[in-house]
Amino acid sequence: MQPDIDRLREEALAAVAAAVDIGQLDHLQVAYLGRKGRLTVILRGLADVPAAERPSLGAMANQARAEIESALVRRRQELAMESDRRRQAAEGIDVTLPGVPRRVGRRHVLSAVRREIEEFFLHLGFSIAEGPEVELDHYNFELLNIPRGHPARETQDTFYLTDELLLRTHTSPTQIRVMQMLAPRLPVRVISPGRVYRRDSVDASHLPFFHQVEVLAVDRGITFADLKGTLEHFARSFFSQGTRVRLRPSYFPFTEPSAEVDVSCMCEGRGCSACGGKGWIELLGAGMVHPRVLEAGGYDPEEVSGYALGLGVERAAMLYHGINDIRLFGQNDVRFLDQFGEGGC
Ligand code: PHE
Repeated sequence: MQPDIDRLREEALAAVAAAVDIGQLDHLQVAYLGRKGRLTVILRGLADVPAAERPSLGAMANQARAEIESALVRRRQELAMESDRRRQAAEGIDVTLPGVPRRVGRRHVLSAVRREIEEFFLHLGFSIAEGPEVELDHYNFELLNIPRGHPARETQDTFYLTDELLLRTHTSPTQIRVMQMLAPRLPVRVISPGRVYRRDSVDASHLPFFHQVEVLAVDRGITFADLKGTLEHFARSFFSQGTRVRLRPSYFPFTEPSAEVDVSCMCEGRGCSACGGKGWIELLGAGMVHPRVLEAGGYDPEEVSGYALGLGVERAAMLYHGINDIRLFGQNDVRFLDQFGEGGC
């Protein structure tokens, strides 16, 4: 019987080695190791063998079974790899070639700064609303208390598309749009980020378009102190804890009173090129929403009040990162852009 087992093992191993596809292996598995397989039959036949020979023959048969089983497993893997290799060769993929490194992009510095401003106000309970860049004269000027012929129109050199249509010169028209949408509901707490256009010639501090974030809060009992507190909180959170805020009387037709808002310079007044030695840097315009603007928005100025501010995103980014030329934002030079913003999208 021993020669039978040996022969069967050799035969099975040779057949497994010669198999060329998985189907043949399945077939061999059944033929040798299945319930009626040839080795199984021999193992069963051990019952008729003299007891003295049984242990050694049994061990031999089990050993043969284990060898055939592992040969089947190995051959299965080999065939699988071969078929992978064949498929890759057919597809022309050489998996041994080194990969091509991909440049990972990052958020543009202006988007990162805009997002930071947005996050601050979202945490205070404001929502985001966007307005159109192609705007009606009516919204950009008229309803903001800047009628035709008003000298304030001259301060914002406007790109007109038609008599009535223009590229918005500021994000303030969204104040009206938002109020008209929400009135008479209270409170109104909305910020509106976006691109604005002015006919300025390009230099280190002017571009014909730039970005603003408009902030508008309307409710019963809002005072100038709310505006000042929000500005101080914002300046400390955006720049640094020690940042101070200064309000200078100013004029905007759509706010009364109006203020130009400065933040303390990092040089602490010792003088540097950022503040020109003044110790203060102008950051934004703000004020209490003019009664006529509240009315245009559908609110009764006798009952509610509000504050508004308009923040230049480029200006904030330049102050924050110490950038001295606004043109750099639009040149898409990765050596510049790689220095800022959250990376790895
Ligand atoms: N819209 C003004 C500007 O672009 C800024 C501003 C907004 C001022 C809101 C006051 C209130 O200059």
